[in-house]
Amino acid sequence: MEVITIANNKGGVGKTTNAYQLVCHLANKGKKVLVIDLDSQANLSSTFGVQIQRTLIPEWLIGDVELEDVLVAAEGEQEFYDNISVIPSSRHLANLSKLLILSEQEIRRNAGRKERLLKKRLKDAEDFFDYVVIDTPPMLGDELIMALVSSNRILIPTQAQDFSIDGLEELMDTFEIIRETENPALEFAIIPSMVNKRRKIEKQRLEELSQSFQITPPVRNLVQMQESISMKTPIFLMGKKSEGLKDYKALWEALSL
Ligand SMILES: Nc1ncnc2c1ncn2[C@@H]1O[C@H](COP(=O)(O)OP(=O)(O)OP(=O)(O)O)[C@@H](O)[C@H]1O
Ligand SMILES: [Mg+2]
Repeated sequence: MEVITIANNKGGVGKTTNAYQLVCHLANKGKKVLVIDLDSQANLSSTFGVQIQRTLIPEWLIGDVELEDVLVAAEGEQEFYDNISVIPSSRHLANLSKLLILSEQEIRRNAGRKERLLKKRLKDAEDFFDYVVIDTPPMLGDELIMALVSSNRILIPTQAQDFSIDGLEELMDTFEIIRETENPALEFAIIPSMVNKRRKIEKQRLEELSQSFQITPPVRNLVQMQESISMKTPIFLMGKKSEGLKDYKALWEALSL
């Protein structure tokens, strides 16, 4: 079972969009995929047709409820949706850090430290899923730390603009700390996201970015990508000649996914 986290502490860079495309792509290849939505905005949950009043993620992490109690089947007509199970989020997840402080003693007994909670709980998923894909909120909080401790790799969608690239430093520092302390095997890939190569400045920033980091083929800024999310239809169902499909084919190939 491979665990993949999509993360960037900057908001609106394409985390949820990339997570959605990745999950559908893997499920369409016949892989069993567990989706964990760790963002209280619950965008990924709703893109999979799952809306709930109150998430049970805090209870699950602490060990009060079991995996089967938090799993919801993804909604969709195509067959590949049968391969997707979702652990959905809701607004309530915004209280996670506070709830974890209240459960400190229980956490110490179960996992030792709170950042290991998710990793510990994912052991129950190993026999049932090929992949776990985790969407995270736009901040460097407990959700992201837990996800990084649990993951084999982290995919970082990044816009080719100054502020996005500046923000990367903070995330890479966190990544290095996790690698040095809890998860030495953690890998990362930077995905240039919403790219408009006709803008000179973006092209320049991408070149600079590729000098400091290994970057994947880019996903361009395409109206079709917004339609894909609003129509709850993955890019591979939007026509064989779709420009978005070209980008994602190159991306998944580069990432061996
Ligand atoms: N390649 C793309 N081309 C055009 N629009 C895109 C592309 N990728 C994402 N978008 C749009 O950009 C917006 C933000 O994308 P998304 O929700 O995936 O970002 P996010 O990083 O998950 O945001 P948040 O930090 O709020 O969770 C959405 O409206 C989405 O449809
Ligand atoms: Mg998001």
